[in-house]
Amino acid sequence: MSDTTSSHHNQFANKAKAWSARFSEPVSDLVKRYTASVDFDKRLAHVDIQGSLAHAEMLSAVGVISAQDYADIQRGMAQVLTEIEAGKFEWSLDLEDVHLNIEKRLVELVGDAGKRLHTGRSRNDQVATDIRLWLRGEIDILVDLLGQLRLALAQLALEHAGTIMPGFTHLQVAQPVTFGHHLLAYAEMFGRDAERLVDTRRRVNRLPLGAAALAGTSYPIDRERVASTLGFDEVARNSLDAVSDRDFAIEFCAAGSLIMTHFSRLSEELVLWMSPRVGFIDLADRFCTGSSIMPQKKNPDVPELARGKAGRVNGNLIALLTLMKGQPLTYNKDNQEDKEGLFDTADTLRDTLTIFVDMVGGIRVKADAMRAAALQGYATATDLADYLVKRGLPFRDAHETVALAVRACEERGCDLSDLTLEELRAFHPDIQEDVHHVLTLEGSVASRSHIGGTAPERVRIEAQRLIDQLGRAA
Ligand code: ARG
Repeated sequence: MSDTTSSHHNQFANKAKAWSARFSEPVSDLVKRYTASVDFDKRLAHVDIQGSLAHAEMLSAVGVISAQDYADIQRGMAQVLTEIEAGKFEWSLDLEDVHLNIEKRLVELVGDAGKRLHTGRSRNDQVATDIRLWLRGEIDILVDLLGQLRLALAQLALEHAGTIMPGFTHLQVAQPVTFGHHLLAYAEMFGRDAERLVDTRRRVNRLPLGAAALAGTSYPIDRERVASTLGFDEVARNSLDAVSDRDFAIEFCAAGSLIMTHFSRLSEELVLWMSPRVGFIDLADRFCTGSSIMPQKKNPDVPELARGKAGRVNGNLIALLTLMKGQPLTYNKDNQEDKEGLFDTADTLRDTLTIFVDMVGGIRVKADAMRAAALQGYATATDLADYLVKRGLPFRDAHETVALAVRACEERGCDLSDLTLEELRAFHPDIQEDVHHVLTLEGSVASRSHIGGTAPERVRIEAQRLIDQLGRAA
């Protein structure tokens, strides 16, 4: 089969037999498959072309190639792009990766100008540039999606600023909180996630091109020019580092792991809240599936899968860290293994975020069930203790007094608020008529109106602040 390409005796035609004239035998089919990356790195095609065009423009500007060569390269690359977008481009495993596939087609289309493109460049700085360009674009999309998610959370929080639910510690009812406040806790987490991505982007957005294979190049290149063409903030300052380290990808994966960790926690709550035993919320049908055997089931598949996918994203992080740790300077082929996990993390984040933006907006809140649960767990016991403190008791004594009251309630199977004034006064004579305000759920949450508190009044302010901030950005 490979004989059919032998009419052009360029390096690429030889490749089908052996890598180049230096090699005496070709690799086996298995080794070819083992070493090739084109099946997964072809998704870098757009940024690869973008990087090549910037490099060629610079080469012509400094006089290493002619203006005509650059024009030919532009024309050829436009054709390559058209073919890729139309799905007509023939990707070949023989050509190993996205870079060689595109370069070969360019040479077919424009001849010698195409062969001059790789002057002063190596696939080592080329691929490092491609990944950074690609990742920068992904980060921008993810930061935007995080903003949309926080907006959806804030809108639901505003709606439920006064909806009371039990707050938990140790998964036991602790103190009443508002559902809006609970939602805004996640808005905070996802806000820090966005900050982390924005910060990571600063280190992603540096140009490796010009490092060539590892040592730089003797051509009079202008790296600042390429950086500005491609929108990089800076030029990587050391050629050895530029082609070899993937810390920027690791950082991204670490930020991604935290995002999925937050999703996993939220998912765990959604699953719990949707359990008929708890019944705090319902998710829209389009995020759930039924059971093939149990007709009564409506399973929260999306949150469960998000919780599960946090595991694979953590795996991608560990894989990348492990990939890097044993590598001496500079480029080693190990680095080709950086892509699939990185792509998978970005894809998983993008899908999860997109689905959750929609799903959060459609959460149906069962306020009655939340309220009933908050009434059941002596959630205002702390408020009663605080009440006694405000009447002069030391906190530890107040704590003990209320513990006795709770124990009595437990024995009688009632809540603190069910006790009459007389019954309460049996625990401490300083308790007055006004205690019942303190023992209500509304009184409890309303009293926590400081910055960061759960009071409806405060939640409305915080939710509105987020909506103004994120709505403006959108
Ligand atoms: N496909 C390679 C990668 O992803 C491109 C760089 C190849 N460089 C090399 N010296 N073999 O890392």
